[in-house]
Amino acid sequence: MYQHGNYSQDSRRPLSEAYPKGEQTVYDIPQKKRRSKWITVGLPCGLIVIAGAVVGVLFGLKIIKTGGSSSSGSSSGGSGGSGGNANVDLNNLSYFATATNSYHQPLYPSMTNTAQFGEPTFAQLEASLEWPADDFVQTNPTDFTNLRPHPRLIAPKYKWDALAQLIPKNAYLKSWNDIIMGNATVMNDLPPVVHVFDGGPSGSGILDPARETKSRIKHFAYAFKTTGDTKWVDRTWRELNNAMTWGDDRADPWNTAHFLDLAELTAAFAIGYDWLYDQWTTDQRAQIREAILNYGLKFGLSSYTDPLSTYRWWQTVNGNWNCVSNGGLILGSLAIIDEDTTGTAAALLAQAVPNAVANCAMVPSTDGTGSETANYWEFAMTGLAELTSSLMTATGGGDFGMLSANAGLKLTSLFRIHVTGMTSLFDYGDHGPNKFSTTANALLFLGSAYNEPLYTLYQRDRYEAPEPHSIFWYDISAQGAWWNNLALDHVFEDPSDLWASFRTSWTDVNGVYMTLKAGALEKHQAHGDLDCGDFVIDALGQRFFGEHGSDDYLNPNYFSNETQASARWTLYRKMTEGQSVITINGQNQLVTAQPTVVASGSSNTAQGASTIFSVPEDSSAFFVADLTSAYGEDVKRGIRFLPGRRQMLVQDDLTGITEASQWRAQTNATISLDSTARTATLSLGGKKLVAQILSPAGVTFSDLPSTRTDKAPALGAGLADMSNGDARVLAIDIPAGTNSVQVLFNPQWDDFTDFKTPPSVPLADWTLTSHNS
Ligand SMILES: *[C@@H]1O[C@H](CO)[C@@H](O)[C@H](O)[C@H]1NC(C)=O
Ligand SMILES: *[C@@H]1O[C@H](CO)[C@@H](O)[C@H](O)[C@H]1NC(C)=O
Ligand SMILES: *[C@@H]1O[C@H](CO)[C@@H](O)[C@H](O)[C@H]1NC(C)=O
Ligand SMILES: *[C@@H]1O[C@H](CO)[C@@H](O)[C@H](O)[C@H]1NC(C)=O
Repeated sequence: MYQHGNYSQDSRRPLSEAYPKGEQTVYDIPQKKRRSKWITVGLPCGLIVIAGAVVGVLFGLKIIKTGGSSSSGSSSGGSGGSGGNANVDLNNLSYFATATNSYHQPLYPSMTNTAQFGEPTFAQLEASLEWPADDFVQTNPTDFTNLRPHPRLIAPKYKWDALAQLIPKNAYLKSWNDIIMGNATVMNDLPPVVHVFDGGPSGSGILDPARETKSRIKHFAYAFKTTGDTKWVDRTWRELNNAMTWGDDRADPWNTAHFLDLAELTAAFAIGYDWLYDQWTTDQRAQIREAILNYGLKFGLSSYTDPLSTYRWWQTVNGNWNCVSNGGLILGSLAIIDEDTTGTAAALLAQAVPNAVANCAMVPSTDGTGSETANYWEFAMTGLAELTSSLMTATGGGDFGMLSANAGLKLTSLFRIHVTGMTSLFDYGDHGPNKFSTTANALLFLGSAYNEPLYTLYQRDRYEAPEPHSIFWYDISAQGAWWNNLALDHVFEDPSDLWASFRTSWTDVNGVYMTLKAGALEKHQAHGDLDCGDFVIDALGQRFFGEHGSDDYLNPNYFSNETQASARWTLYRKMTEGQSVITINGQNQLVTAQPTVVASGSSNTAQGASTIFSVPEDSSAFFVADLTSAYGEDVKRGIRFLPGRRQMLVQDDLTGITEASQWRAQTNATISLDSTARTATLSLGGKKLVAQILSPAGVTFSDLPSTRTDKAPALGAGLADMSNGDARVLAIDIPAGTNSVQVLFNPQWDDFTDFKTPPSVPLADWTLTSHNS
């Protein structure tokens, strides 16, 4: 049930210390969208319009083709080689993913029968099988004067009304509904959420209790709306009533000192108020409204209007704080605006909506990558999807510019898809606190909003999809396979994040996933690490090289700033030694780093319709970055697949380096060195990966504990490193001077042993074919 994930760290930046007034970080997001071959390669599924349309019956849904005559019951299979097959019972297609593994990755059946796996599309369904037409007509959805009656947040009445007949006919809705009801039942038996300050009011505050409350209210209100059983109304009230009386500070019970707490509780109350509006007594309505207004919105408005407010710093931040804070304030305002005699909600919307457009919508860079980390992207996008969806449902379509403010927002789902590895996320930087109702289900909203069936199909198979918002964000006419014609490789080229993601398959979780990150180190809301050149490798279902994640957020000055002198960079997990990179004399990289791409290439291999995919023998990808600006010394790093993608090479070309350096790679594997110590066998989860030094001569591997060396910057006052348990560092000590450090990785495949030793090629000469032998 309530999983506390991998993260024991719940705390957030102490606001007073984090961004003192006048010192907020303001991001410079380039407005110009650069199109590159990579972006073109990465998008085809979403862009393809299947002429003549796919016809067929999916999940028992009769699908009418979008043009010409209907021929339901058979499949023409789209254009992506998904040949029809008369033996497939299209009436009995269930979930595409048959299960999820221990890493929560969906598992797909091995099937060459691809009738159901056409390219992603939104089909036109028979009316009785689709969401009905919206019955709220708003001719001018640009203001808040003529709002939809309740419910108006995320889930409008016409969708609630359609659920009873749609759920039994749709495998995804049915499965999600079952899980949501199961979760509501589990939550029902728990005592109301307990108010606990983590790290005091300005530490992590009451963020966990706030998010847990929000998750419960969504589930309980959903359970009433779909069953009509008033026990769920009573249970929702119990939870609301509980959070109304939290804490000792009656003037500020939802904790302005850690504004996210207030925002999440305001969102929770807004949803409870709105979804169950007809069930509340006059007195209950008044109490909920009072809480939204006096514990939430009042402070939201003063944060905008009072220049001396101590809790307004997030208003100039394009990170999760802006999306979550504005999100709660916008949902709360929309819930009560027509009954708010104080004018607070209207005044607040006039501030919060344009602020979200100018900041929250800018969280993705021009290439779609989130401004903070892969995990923090979930907090930002949950806030963004909730607020945008609520604006659109409440007003009858108005997004107030959220969806068009930033071309990168349309690409941000691709970031999520490519930052997800074979096991887990490429989880660089901080991982964030417990998630509760924070997910990547914004992809379902963005899929519908941008008409991108790829995003919808991808997310619906995810472990976290079953929650109330998904039901309403899901475009149920999505069909086809998200992996069909999806490129395996993607380079994200914005200098603020600059990173590459390569893999061998979209449906085989035992394949290889490999990344290299070279983006700038500043402007990540103090959630990043000093990690230019960092890589992860998944192979054979194991994360052989990975990340340590957050340190304890309650460390003093953990979020102080991103300057070179920040205490943050004295923690092992945040400093350069704690990453899978080169260190020079144990020192940290320069926070001013601005790495650039030397070269990159991809065979542009895309998976087809089948879940069984064989990588072509000439398939390859590489990425080389110039990291000189991170060191003040000439360092370039490249990663690549050898042809066929069964072997990987990481190469560092170090030129005239003035001090000794160290090649470090973080691993949970057990390392065993051969007698030469030029070959290391890493064992993890019963699988093996062999690492081999190809160059330079004379250096050897060592097997070190994953801790700081005696050359590392000293710990800041009062800080303490978290233990990394049994994690090890596979290391190579490299003398000063000019060296090409080449390390070859050979996963020990069950069905392949024909490993090649590639030629030695300077990074400057790498091409797609430079390592063909
Ligand atoms: C649907 O398919 C599954 C798996 O092939 C099978 O076990 C089940 O009996 C089928 N159900 C119906 C109603 O045909
Ligand atoms: C819902 O239930 C599923 C299946 O038991 C579980 O994996 C998931 O964590 C639950 N989600 C919540 C929010 O409780
Ligand atoms: C080691 O395993 C833990 C637990 O799964 C994980 O959180 C961590 O990221 C892993 N570390 C590395 C270096 O892969
Ligand atoms: C950055 O934070 C450190 C503490 O981590 C502090 O000593 C330093 O003065 C801060 N620098 C700036 C420019 O705020």
